[in-house]
Amino acid sequence: MKEKVEQLKAEIEQFKIDSAEAMEKFRIAFLGSKGAIKDLFADLKQVPNEEKREAGQLVNGLRQFAQEKLDTQKDALSSAQESAQGIDVTRPGDGILVGSRHPLSLVRSEIIEIFSRVGFTVSEGPEIEDDWHNFSALNFPPEHPARDMQDTFFIEKGDTPESEMALRTHTSSVQARVMETSEPPIRTISPGRVYRNEAISARAHCFFHQVEGLYIDTDVSFADLKQTLLYFAQEMFGDKAQIRLRPSYFPFTEPSAEVDVSCTICSGKGCNVCKYTGWLEILGCGMVDPNVLEASNIDPEKYSGFAFGMGVERIAQLKYRVNDLRLYSENDVRFLKQFTSGM
Ligand code: DAH
Repeated sequence: MKEKVEQLKAEIEQFKIDSAEAMEKFRIAFLGSKGAIKDLFADLKQVPNEEKREAGQLVNGLRQFAQEKLDTQKDALSSAQESAQGIDVTRPGDGILVGSRHPLSLVRSEIIEIFSRVGFTVSEGPEIEDDWHNFSALNFPPEHPARDMQDTFFIEKGDTPESEMALRTHTSSVQARVMETSEPPIRTISPGRVYRNEAISARAHCFFHQVEGLYIDTDVSFADLKQTLLYFAQEMFGDKAQIRLRPSYFPFTEPSAEVDVSCTICSGKGCNVCKYTGWLEILGCGMVDPNVLEASNIDPEKYSGFAFGMGVERIAQLKYRVNDLRLYSENDVRFLKQFTSGM
């Protein structure tokens, strides 16, 4: 018995397992139901009783030996197969790349957050807009130059201005839509993309982003407008930010103003960013023209309101000091990854 075990052990040791087939042969020869070790167990019956214990241990040990060889060879074979396929299981894992939000998206969210704290909701409208909502309802006279091909991307040129479809040139179109479908009090901001037929340069682009604001209720005054904009400027640019309003003209507001914020770089002392004026223009605004209220069936005798519109790129430019508008749409990872911490 002892010799048989020794002999089988030597055979097991020498057996070369270098393929899946060889492994299966090994298993059948030694560990299978008709294998050599099974036969040894059968032979145990003939062993005299006093030797049985020792012989049993020997055969059991042999079976364990064969099983261990099979298991280790199995592991070795599968990792050899993996590395043959080019998989290196010892290679450290790659870190997961965390993306970053786009600077315009960060600024847009911040603007929404600031206005939502004082009760403004968010509303949206289509980017392909009809003449009525982009121009007529906003009191643009039919011959107004902004309707010209110079500025507007037309989608369908109609026989009359009213039948034309275009890419919206400003988010003020959403004002017209909100007024048409809701009753005052209205307090909403409308962020979105707008399009103008301009040559692309560091300072101009054929698409950019705006946030429109609209507040209509009884007794809304110019003082409310000023205070709301001061609140916005200080939330966006810091407690010390100041604003100044300069008279301006927009067809849909009367009176109208352009708003400057005290220079975010030099705090008003004068530097090359503000061209030594101490001020930076950030938005246009005014009291909603009674004609605009009327066009949307809101009674101008009963209600008044203010509106404002700002460029998201402009705010982002001041916040992050990005001086070239093209960077926002070029998808250059070197630019974008600088905003990773702003998640
Ligand atoms: N729509 C204007 C533009 O695109 C911005 C603007 C100015 C919006 C004054 C307003 C406003 O609501 O009152 O330049």
